[in-house]
Amino acid sequence: MAKSRSDRPLRPATLLVRGGQMRSDFDETSEAMYLTSGFVYDSAAQAEATFAGTVQHYQYSRFGNPTVVMLEERIAALEGAEACRATATGMAAVHAAMLSHLKTGDRVVASRALFGSCHWIVSTLLPRYGIATEFVDGADLAQWEAALSKPTALVLLETPSNPMLEIVDMRAVCTLAHKAGAIVVVDNVFATPLLQKPMAFGADVVVYSATKHFDGQGRVLGGAVLGKKKWVEEVLQPFIRNTGPSISPFNAWTILKGLETLHLRVPAMCRSAAAVADMLGERAEVSRVLYPFRDDHPQQKLAMAQMSAGGTLVTFDLKGGKEACFRFMDAMRLIDISNNLGDAKSLATHPATTTHMRVGAEERTRLGITDGTVRLSVGLEDVADIIDDLSEALDAAAPAARAAE
Ligand SMILES: Cc1ncc(COP(=O)(O)O)c(C=O)c1O
Repeated sequence: MAKSRSDRPLRPATLLVRGGQMRSDFDETSEAMYLTSGFVYDSAAQAEATFAGTVQHYQYSRFGNPTVVMLEERIAALEGAEACRATATGMAAVHAAMLSHLKTGDRVVASRALFGSCHWIVSTLLPRYGIATEFVDGADLAQWEAALSKPTALVLLETPSNPMLEIVDMRAVCTLAHKAGAIVVVDNVFATPLLQKPMAFGADVVVYSATKHFDGQGRVLGGAVLGKKKWVEEVLQPFIRNTGPSISPFNAWTILKGLETLHLRVPAMCRSAAAVADMLGERAEVSRVLYPFRDDHPQQKLAMAQMSAGGTLVTFDLKGGKEACFRFMDAMRLIDISNNLGDAKSLATHPATTTHMRVGAEERTRLGITDGTVRLSVGLEDVADIIDDLSEALDAAAPAARAAE
């Protein structure tokens, strides 16, 4: 298999199109899809040598497949990480990153504002295996400092967070975590590697749901874990090899194709998201807009220090709670109601009744999620059409919003 001919350092847009490509003897233009579960050997001796590790040869797609390797190398090149392993979903990535590293008796500290399933792993799954866990308010450094005053094995955080777009000071938390003996795992789904590089702020491991912006067209599920070569090969790889959260070569190929346009899609979606946030901020029905780069975001300065743009998501509160939200969402004629994000299609979610229903009312209050909160993933449609649809839907919600005043 032939690799790319360039040995110059390449820029992100080029890496997204070319990174990791290996051409077969057929000289195909596009990355080949090796839709195979297994591989064959020239001889019994070659099979023996492969299993002994003295010969490099693919064995079985649960722990290695050329299409998946192309995806892993492309993501690693973009992130600037030493190594990457792709997984079947984003949750498989978070689970593998944590469970491969942890053992009974360990301690985990996490920011409270996590995606619902990540929250469940920390609050419910890990304690079952004798791993102590503690949540902190991610924006409050004093809470991080107190929690990390005890020896800790792993820190998990998400920044910006889902859905309240809370920002965690990665440099400060990584310094505290490393002193406590912990590795820091950052879920970088909302920012994407184009807007934010957690390793530059001290993160040890970065995880992605490739289902979101990487595919970006709502087709397949996928995930990725990135870290130092030694950790990936010695800690993560045996866990993945033996527990099997592997991505299908078909999904890996689809995500490889999605990545080729990531550098065009994400900046365009960010520009539209910023315009949508400003439009929402002008509306009487809206009581609060959260967008990391807006002047009224409580952590705008920190967001600007860590990210190169405000992201593709906007979260806002409607006056009139659930009734106003449901009227608003049901009146949308272009934007879809969906719990996915990072898609070419604009998607709106009501977190209190969907993604964050299971965390319970008390935890939602702690997270700042109200019955009037809407999370909007801004897509690639013409921004004027997105704004028209939002304006009309807000008009429809206006009576419910006014009744609440
Ligand atoms: C921040 C975040 N992390 C992890 C996940 C899990 O990804 P997946 O659905 O691909 O398992 C999601 C979304 O579902 C998410 O929004």
